[in-house]
Amino acid sequence: MTPTRRTFSKYLYASSFAALVARVNCDASPEGSGAEPWWKTAILYQIYPRSFQDTNGDGMGDFPGMTSRLRYLQDLGVNAVWITACFDSPNADNGYDVRDYRRIHPDFGTMDDFERFMAEAKSRKIRIILDMVFNHSSDEHEWFKQSRSSRTNPYRDFYFWRDGVNGKPPTNWPSFFGGSGWEYDKTTGQYYLHHYATKQPDLNWENPQVRKQLYAVLNFWAEKGVSGFRFDCIGEISKPLPFRDMTPAELKEDGMALRCSGARLDEYLKEMRAATNSYPDLYFVGEGWGMSRQEIVRATDDRNQELNSAFRFDFELQDITDGWRKLPWSLPNLREFNRDNAFEDNHHVWPIVFLEDHDFARSVSRFGSDRPEFQSRSAKLLATMLLALRGTPLIYQGEEIGMTNFPFRDVSQYDDIGVRNLWNDLVVTGKVSAADYLSNNALTSRDNSRTPMQWDESPNAGFTKAQKPWLAVNPNFHRINVQAESGQPDSVLSFYREMIRLRNSKSSLVFGSYRDISGKFPNIYAYVRADASGRTVVVLNFSNEAVNFQLPADIAVKKRLISNVSESQAELSNIIRMLPWQSAIFE
Ligand code: NOJ
Ligand code: CA
Repeated sequence: MTPTRRTFSKYLYASSFAALVARVNCDASPEGSGAEPWWKTAILYQIYPRSFQDTNGDGMGDFPGMTSRLRYLQDLGVNAVWITACFDSPNADNGYDVRDYRRIHPDFGTMDDFERFMAEAKSRKIRIILDMVFNHSSDEHEWFKQSRSSRTNPYRDFYFWRDGVNGKPPTNWPSFFGGSGWEYDKTTGQYYLHHYATKQPDLNWENPQVRKQLYAVLNFWAEKGVSGFRFDCIGEISKPLPFRDMTPAELKEDGMALRCSGARLDEYLKEMRAATNSYPDLYFVGEGWGMSRQEIVRATDDRNQELNSAFRFDFELQDITDGWRKLPWSLPNLREFNRDNAFEDNHHVWPIVFLEDHDFARSVSRFGSDRPEFQSRSAKLLATMLLALRGTPLIYQGEEIGMTNFPFRDVSQYDDIGVRNLWNDLVVTGKVSAADYLSNNALTSRDNSRTPMQWDESPNAGFTKAQKPWLAVNPNFHRINVQAESGQPDSVLSFYREMIRLRNSKSSLVFGSYRDISGKFPNIYAYVRADASGRTVVVLNFSNEAVNFQLPADIAVKKRLISNVSESQAELSNIIRMLPWQSAIFE
């Protein structure tokens, strides 16, 4: 998730790996050798369905559109696709407010369209992962309609209802999307809890009936052949009861840690896993937003039978404050986070690695260079890093062609509920100037990553035949698009393809240990991945200046395996000359 308010081993040896790599390379099979689960060697790709490919001209992406692009994903080397929130929803938060967990959103098509998509994905050996939004439902879900109808309705306890205190909400909890986290409902004279929008009431997992219904939803989709689930804000499902006010310190971070401190999280996750044990290969990846490292370790250590991995936001949230204000990011913090996220202290934890998703601005605009001569090079540098870390890499749609932030100028250009609500809370009330709010949101808003996929140079980038897509296409689509980049050997897209091939051919890049060797070079990020088959050395220059990087005394490199700069590398014994924004991997 993203706050829109405030901030916040196994080693596989060379021989068995060769068999596995051969399969991954030859038929792009997501299946492992049997020695390791499929999701450890997979390249994961996230589709934001609304913005991927429209086929019926309504300006919104759909399942037939996704089906038509599976070949593209197969060619890229993708083994599994996470379909972002795609169930029936009134779209208060673009699908993260589910009205019916067993129905495909009519905007995206029918169940038949979904099934055709599944069949085509299967024939291309691409696994499908669905988004499960189980912390809350829509207020238009049948359960909530029943729940709010009377205090004695059997569904009353599917949600959290409390009396107010002296005419005020039960506690001071804010919502992440602005305003109070409790909404008064006059039908029964009580308040219900919503961590997010008022149209997203929190489900009460204390109630065994709620859990039973949700687990049945997982089995329903597993039966249709999906291979895993991404669990939305999973750390929040167990509430810290009884509810109490947040302290001023807790309020500063919107009570993120408090909301994730419920005592029963591990119990629920174990129960959920056990409830789906007819499908032992399912990949469970949680959105670990708000969870501490310790909580993540507990929930993902493979001995605990809970989740397989969890997205961590420790680094992603460092350059955003108040949910919208941009702060500078720092390379030492990135290095530190990646070290921490490699879990060298516990290889029973398998991380997921990502730079972008639908909740953050575009990574090249954020961490790369703005200088036109370095834009594509820095996108490739980020690809090098993403695909050479320990953990399953996630590519977010458009990242593989170097899509950038959108040139937002006006609040009317935004769709995001968070941006619009905070505009009312902050700008309309005069607390923040419009110029300040807009210039920061242009850099931080999650709508930056939600603009339509750029396929070609035709109108609206080949995304839709409609005059107007649901969100405007980035005007740079003439330069940055799949078709143009497919034909260029030095494009960002071609680089991704090459990097994926390299990762699949080097067991050290997938399973190897991790050691940071950046030393005292402030603009260099360098690390070694090593396993029994050998050692790979990754060197990244995060600056507009060339750097002579000195390797530590115990490391020597023999051969360059890949680089985003084609000229050969100047090497003087153990000093490597890195050009601006150059990335390179050596063995
Ligand atoms: C996380 C999702 O990624 C985000 O888009 C959504 O707004 C929140 N969770 C609430 O469901
Ligand atoms: Ca459509």
